[in-house]
Amino acid sequence: MKTANFLGKACLRLMVLGSLLTLAACERPFMDTVQSGYRGTGMVQVYNPRLLDIKTAANEVPVALPEAGAEGPKAGQVYKNVKVLGDLSVGQFSRLMVSMTTWVAPTEGCTYCHNPANFADDSKYTKVVARRMVEMTQHINSDWKTHVAQTGVTCYTCHRGQPVPSNVWFKADHQPQGSNFMGDKAGQNEPSAAVNLSSLPNDPFTPFLLGKENIRVNGPSPLPSDNRQSIKQAEWTYGLMTHMSTSLGVNCTYCHNSRSFQTWEGGPPQRVTAWHGIRMARELNLSYLEPLTDTFPTHRKGELGDVAKLNCATCHQGAYKPLNGQSMLKGFPELAAPAKQAPTAAVPAQVAKK
Ligand code: HEC
Ligand code: HEC
Ligand code: HEC
Ligand code: HEC
Repeated sequence: MKTANFLGKACLRLMVLGSLLTLAACERPFMDTVQSGYRGTGMVQVYNPRLLDIKTAANEVPVALPEAGAEGPKAGQVYKNVKVLGDLSVGQFSRLMVSMTTWVAPTEGCTYCHNPANFADDSKYTKVVARRMVEMTQHINSDWKTHVAQTGVTCYTCHRGQPVPSNVWFKADHQPQGSNFMGDKAGQNEPSAAVNLSSLPNDPFTPFLLGKENIRVNGPSPLPSDNRQSIKQAEWTYGLMTHMSTSLGVNCTYCHNSRSFQTWEGGPPQRVTAWHGIRMARELNLSYLEPLTDTFPTHRKGELGDVAKLNCATCHQGAYKPLNGQSMLKGFPELAAPAKQAPTAAVPAQVAKK
């Protein structure tokens, strides 16, 4: 009798242990929900309060250096090779250099971009890239207010104290049909972090954030004769949408009306902001990052020799507004100024000659 009882208890313990192990991959309750539409319509945001605490700590902004005066000689007059930031006073210029160092290369210091023997020298690729990055930041803040509003971005929004931002993407090297024992997986059916470990197409960025493939999948009619939309297209769209949700740490209903994912009427205004965000990411990849391909050394490039590119996660990093909506830009108006002259050459002279 006693042994049976003992065995029963041991069995129960094993079962409890087993179920704990199988559930280990799930998030531990309790979750919180915030309702954003009529009850019963599924318009809710579900989030994990414990993960939110971690996120809050990760989104603290560094303290800005005290402002420097605009008086005195301009950087463009004092220094030899200043092409973008020449209108700043020497004080403002130095403050920005120190800030850029803490935002992008705090452990490496000034020499991450500079030849210490000659600060005017452009021989380090990092300096050439950084100059374009200053122009890109100004362009985002002055020409993409439809997305970044007055909050704007600084180098820190993407870099967070590291030379290579945590979230960048490269084109995926798809195995052609027959080259693999498993056959052609058509760029999907493999868990990929890009699509939150689902089996959706694992490079939804090339078609939409570099190319401008049609993101819409709902056809205008049910009949195949005039409905060119396919399931395949829908899978790519869902790949991108999954990336967008995870990058912002939100559910689909943050942007979509649960009644119809297609209609804009009655949907959250965030979808419009996201629409601009897609166009912004595409334009930045095409106009700023791709042209830097020859400037970057091989070890910074992807398997296909392409340059690192940005997506929603590069800025957002899990928050629905990067850095939880805190604006670092107001302390750095020079990064909001519209770029004054034609874009500087992306490729240093010595590279272009080759
Ligand atoms: C992330 C890259 C980066 C870092 C780090 C950096 N700089 Fe610069 N620096 C630049 C760029 C880009 C320019 C050119 C700006 C322009 O063309 O408007 C520049 C230009 C300069 C110049 C002008 C040189 C000349 O004669 O043309 C000085 C001086 C300078 N930086 C000082 C510093 C100091 C001091 C530090 C460290 C506290 C530093 N920089 C850190 C990117 C960087
Ligand atoms: C919108 C996001 C974004 C912003 C804002 C941004 N960067 Fe970048 N930066 C990138 C991406 C993406 C790369 C490519 C990653 C790589 O280097 O492989 C990059 C690369 C760089 C590199 C080359 C690092 C290396 O080791 O290869 C430097 C230097 C740099 N950025 C400086 C800056 C500076 C300075 C600013 C602010 C004036 C800035 N960035 C703003 C996204 C951004
Ligand atoms: C950050 C906002 C945002 C989130 C989150 C989001 N979407 Fe979207 N979705 C959009 C935008 C914007 C479009 C339209 C894109 C365009 O036309 O350029 C769109 C388009 C779509 C379409 C195509 C509709 C049509 O007209 O054919 C579907 C389907 C869709 N999303 C599903 C989803 C699903 C499923 C999720 C959750 C996994 C999701 N979305 C999460 C913003 C979002
Ligand atoms: C260059 C950095 C950057 C990139 C890249 C970026 N965003 Fe944003 N996004 C921002 C900033 C900054 C804000 C905050 C604007 C504000 O304060 O209203 C924002 C706000 C938003 C909002 C509004 C949130 C709200 O609650 O009002 C949505 C939705 C959004 N982004 C979606 C996206 C999507 C989707 C992508 C990728 C296709 C993307 N973003 C790429 C910087 C970026």
